[in-house]
Amino acid sequence: MNAAPASNAAAHAPVETVQVALEDRSYPIVIGRGVATDPARIAAHLKPGRAALVTSEVVGALYLEPVAAALAAAGVEAVPVVLPDGEQHKNWQVLNTVFDHLIEQRCDRRTPIIALGGGVIGDMAGFAAATWQRGVPFVQIPTTLLAQVDSSVGGKTAINHPQGKNMIGAFHQPMLVLADTALLDTLPDRELSAGLAEVIKYGLIRDTAFLDWLEPNLPRLLARDPAALAHAVRRSCEHKAEVVAADEREAGLRETLNLGHTFGHAIETGVGYGSWLHGEAVAAGTVLAAELSARLGWLDESDVGRVRRLFALARLPVDPPAMPIERWIDLMGHDKKVRGGRIRLVLMQGLGRAVTTGDYDPAALQATLALAAGHG
Ligand code: NAD
Ligand code: GLY
Repeated sequence: MNAAPASNAAAHAPVETVQVALEDRSYPIVIGRGVATDPARIAAHLKPGRAALVTSEVVGALYLEPVAAALAAAGVEAVPVVLPDGEQHKNWQVLNTVFDHLIEQRCDRRTPIIALGGGVIGDMAGFAAATWQRGVPFVQIPTTLLAQVDSSVGGKTAINHPQGKNMIGAFHQPMLVLADTALLDTLPDRELSAGLAEVIKYGLIRDTAFLDWLEPNLPRLLARDPAALAHAVRRSCEHKAEVVAADEREAGLRETLNLGHTFGHAIETGVGYGSWLHGEAVAAGTVLAAELSARLGWLDESDVGRVRRLFALARLPVDPPAMPIERWIDLMGHDKKVRGGRIRLVLMQGLGRAVTTGDYDPAALQATLALAAGHG
């Protein structure tokens, strides 16, 4: 890990833009080194004025100053809102402190809220933007790989309930995403791996060619090779943009982006928020989804092996923590995909083909969880 904060915009680094096509709520995802500290790029998208800049203590210490300086040079005065760091703070109490700041600083309906941080900050600042004065403009500056490839795009915002992940939230699209890959230079290795879980997810759901690219390139990604990272972020954002444009409110296709998440959210809630990282829980959860898919005869055992290998190569956990089966079922029963008490799951009918279904043999789920719990 390199501890030096990003320098100002790398003038000649390639910058790519992926568009999220949502009619009057369309927006660009601008990807490249230095895009969040480049006043010209900011000025191209944001009007001069004030903006609330929501960040965490950890990310703020690294990037609040250079980002606020770039905003100032673009004519945007940043009002900083610094929150405690981590998943365990993604709750009502901390969200309320954001509203306290917005009131104190007299932020109005035209004051954009900018999220500078990982998925936790993005989800909380986004929910604040969705609800403050019934909705204000929102900008995402994601600083983790996970946030750059997934959470900053698509408009899902939320906080956790003690009994369930992301239970309280809203859809609120950003007007701009600045995915500055230079900010990843300071990301801890464990967080980089967690982000790779969501990258691998796109391949497993809908893009076997991407899987074929990922397998030999995971070492380059772990080594933070800039070209490999840029490719992974762009390809992931293309997938996310395509799915969100087709199904913004998760009526069907978008549910498949939840591969591994019903198991994963149960892990996160079950072990206590912040203990397993979201990406780690998604990795172990996706292996369970693959194992259940194989048990149902939908996926070859050799493909389950490949799923395990991919996550292991990305230095992610492939086995879940020990939890009694009743606890698994109870936690999974709170999932947002549950319909009429039936746990619907995203499973695989072959690699690259994810489906959401409640039509599976519950005994197969029990058997998969029993094996995971060491009772099989
Ligand atoms: P996170 O926001 O907790 O960030 C991880 C850690 O990395 C934090 O400690 C943070 O301070 C640190 N960090 C962030 N950027 C850094 C940088 N550039 N340099 C050094 N340290 C840095 O975790 P995350 O993995 O980014 O996000 C996980 C959250 O995202 C979960 O709450 C999950 O539910 C949510 N999520 C939301 C969506 C969505 O569509 N809204 C999608 C996926 C995940
Ligand atoms: N992270 C899943 C989604 O945005 O739908």
